[in-house]
Amino acid sequence: MIIEGEEHYVITIIMAAGKGTRMKSKKSKLVHKIYDKELVKRVAELAKEVGSDEIVTVVGHLKEEIENVLGDSVQYAYQDDLLGTGHAVMTAAPFLENKKGKVVILYGDVPIIRKETLENLIVKSIKNKEYATLLTAIYENPTGYGRIIRDEGGNIKAIVEEKDANMFEKEIKEINSGIYCFDIEELLSAIKLIKPDNAQGEYYLTDVIKIMNDKGLKTGAVIVEDNTEILGVNDRAQLELLTRVLRMRINAEHMRNGVTIEDSNSTYIYDNVIIGMDTVIHPNTTIHNGVIIGENCEIGPNAHIRPNCIVGNNVKIGNNVEIKNTKIGNRSKVPHFIYLGDCEVGEDCNIGCGVITCNYDGKEKHKTIIGNRSFIGSNVNLIAPVKIGDDTLIAAGSTITDDVPDGMFSIAREKQINKKNKRVEE
Ligand code: UD1
Ligand code: CA
Repeated sequence: MIIEGEEHYVITIIMAAGKGTRMKSKKSKLVHKIYDKELVKRVAELAKEVGSDEIVTVVGHLKEEIENVLGDSVQYAYQDDLLGTGHAVMTAAPFLENKKGKVVILYGDVPIIRKETLENLIVKSIKNKEYATLLTAIYENPTGYGRIIRDEGGNIKAIVEEKDANMFEKEIKEINSGIYCFDIEELLSAIKLIKPDNAQGEYYLTDVIKIMNDKGLKTGAVIVEDNTEILGVNDRAQLELLTRVLRMRINAEHMRNGVTIEDSNSTYIYDNVIIGMDTVIHPNTTIHNGVIIGENCEIGPNAHIRPNCIVGNNVKIGNNVEIKNTKIGNRSKVPHFIYLGDCEVGEDCNIGCGVITCNYDGKEKHKTIIGNRSFIGSNVNLIAPVKIGDDTLIAAGSTITDDVPDGMFSIAREKQINKKNKRVEE
């Protein structure tokens, strides 16, 4: 991480050894998804985005599942017995030896912290030369969390866990999020002094704050502005809650950027989506990760924009439309009951109701290319691979198996015959 022109080494430890019993799942809690991404993957990506030089994930319970998801994007420390958060960091200690810089602690089940918040924590820690910088929050109901003990001057003295807190400490509303930025060398020496002499008989990572204070080392905190950022997932109800929080946050960001969202409650826009100004999103629309949509488009209701789609300006994607790995040119209309997969639609096209690309032959996916100003009639099947030229007209109900050159009218269906209806009495 570069701060004011100076390079700072940052290593992130992600705690991911826990059992997650309350999920009632055969899978590790951390491979459950929030939108399209596993919880632990979201956290690992966040660690990467803030500029971590190294990431170590502490795994234990169902470690293979986490390794499958993260692969070699991170390193692993193995915690076989869960003896507490301090113990988890101890298992990662070999990765910290002989290094200078900062170590950030994150949790695999706290997935929606903002990048800016984490950056701010690290930058403050470096600029203020703090040996420990805590991310804290003010909770109206702090029950269950570690409490932040400050002196009269506001300096942080220690963290006391709920189960070890006296009645005065329990009144404190400033809580420990469990996310920190530490000086590597001082954390290493402090964790070696932690003892499990507390109500839970665990090695508490939180004890390092008092240890550092006793040594006269400067510590500090950043109070998070948006408490929802530090929410964790323990059960499926919380997973739903966090998905909702994330959804509202992403939607709000698009609305701030000039996108109209008719009903935020039923609009699902995943990460890294770009939507142009004055585009209107109608209800029940899902737009997947990385999709790009231009300006002044109309999307939905009931539209499903799957990954790898690029939509131009002034495009209409109407109701019950699914598109995947598809490009749609400016001013084209894809109004109703349509499936386009692995498709390129030119500019100023009209795709009729019920058109589908038959892009999958059971083994492989094939491309459909449609030129500019073409009109694809209702209920046309486009058997890929197939190329439709510019300025074409495809008759309704056609099943198109061969390429259609520019400027052609193409019809591919049985000729109609009318016979007497024998069921009608003479
Ligand atoms: C911890 C903090 C508490 C803070 C709270 C915020 C300590 C002692 N307390 O309490 O101050 O308010 O988080 O949520 O740190 N884990 C491991 N290995 C272990 C133990 C835990 O990987 O041996 C992981 C768990 O999977 C979990 C996380 O660390 O994701 C937190 O552990 P947990 O024991 O639940 O800590 P809390 O009691 O919540
Ligand atoms: Ca059809």
